Amino acid sequence: MDRIRIVGGNQLNGIIPISGAKNAALPLMIASLLTSDTLTLENVPHLADVELLMRILGNHGVDVSVNGRRETQNGMYSRTIHFTCRTIADTTAPYDLVSKMRASFWVIGPLLAREGKARVSLPGGCAIGTRPVDLFIEGLTALGATMDIDAGYINATAPKGGLIGAHYTFPKVSVGATHVMMMAAVLARGTTVIGNAAREPEVVDLANCMIAMGAKITGAGTPTITIEGVTSLSGARHRVLPDRIETGTYAMAVAMTGGDVTLAGTDITLLDTAVSAIRRAGAELIAVDNGIRVIGHGNDIRPVDIVTEPFPGFPTDLQAQFMGLMTRADGVAHVTETIFENRFMHVQELARLGARITLSGQTARIEGVKRLRGAPVMATDLRASVSLVIAGLAAEGETLVNRVYHLDRGFERLEEKLTRCGAIVERISD
Ligand code: EPZ
Repeated sequence: MDRIRIVGGNQLNGIIPISGAKNAALPLMIASLLTSDTLTLENVPHLADVELLMRILGNHGVDVSVNGRRETQNGMYSRTIHFTCRTIADTTAPYDLVSKMRASFWVIGPLLAREGKARVSLPGGCAIGTRPVDLFIEGLTALGATMDIDAGYINATAPKGGLIGAHYTFPKVSVGATHVMMMAAVLARGTTVIGNAAREPEVVDLANCMIAMGAKITGAGTPTITIEGVTSLSGARHRVLPDRIETGTYAMAVAMTGGDVTLAGTDITLLDTAVSAIRRAGAELIAVDNGIRVIGHGNDIRPVDIVTEPFPGFPTDLQAQFMGLMTRADGVAHVTETIFENRFMHVQELARLGARITLSGQTARIEGVKRLRGAPVMATDLRASVSLVIAGLAAEGETLVNRVYHLDRGFERLEEKLTRCGAIVERISD
């Protein structure tokens, strides 16, 4: 199993190209099930989750053709992938695939919309929390679907003639359930109004792509999304938006190690709340042409309290990294997690590097220390793992991050991007 070895202490200087967003690419790929034409996606990141979803979509009948990786300016890679689903080959998403990646559950929306039926395994729990699917069931039921649970699967059936537009307000904000409701409603008869919708940029990206495919959607990015159903969608060409979580992660790394790095190919407006928190911690973040320049000082990090919330609040996917940054603050910071009940597994691992963190319910109290010291640590989930990497970059001595397959799910060429900026980071394959 691969490990990452980091020798901390170096500043970061140079350019880090930001990849296309994993959490936009996944629903966009799933949207290819909605049409028999080709959906072409540009800027698709090369990640384990993307590769797995290609295989899953292949089972449903999607033909995938990858245009290869082309290196562009600033060492950025651009990958274009064509997805063509002439006919749906299988409406079942089996347990062995859905349990590997929760987002594959989302195929339930387009399968139901296009084929009128879907049999999709319940995803089960995962390391960061229980993550139920009640909102998906309620939302699709509102569109007229019959939803039965049998032997760990949801059997979903649309009424004769297809799903029917409806007004439905989510009792809680969910990114995945918003994606699925949109994908189901675009081919439904009549108008759907989704209330309390997720406002994440990835929701807007999916809506824009489906609009290019011929869907009639307004209001994406606000709490109310209105969709006029159409009878069919066509192919389209769409560029995946930049990864705001990768952007925030590297900005925090620079804030922690010190240095001067330009994050290229990203957009500061995608992460206002996180940018403001990193600035309050003392780093300078400056919008530049097609990117963000980050100037970190590496010390005099100011303590900043954050609370994770749905967009536009502070993203849960940056909580672990921000906690990493706060371990070196001059004072005490509080980090409160409100989205997932078990997203604090990095706490014990950061403690191995010398961090002083105490947990009380959903809030972590972080008392900044003068220095962290390298140690072997264990990656537990994607964002937790990268918080250990950035802490390792700022720690004295050697940090070995085990179980890096978590990192490979969401960070493209992490070692290469950091090494180019002067970090000592290498992958050890046993
Ligand atoms: C998406 O997950 C992201 N995944 C997550 O990123 C991210 O942490 C999360 O949104 C929140 O921003 C992808 O986009 C692939 P939710 P999702 O439904 O859609 C509860 C990463 O590291 N809920 O918005 O699964 C749920 O348990 C990943 O890249 C219900 O109660 O998250 C959670 O408490 C991890 N019932 C809250 O809603 C439901 O039916 C928000 O979850 C559905 C969700």
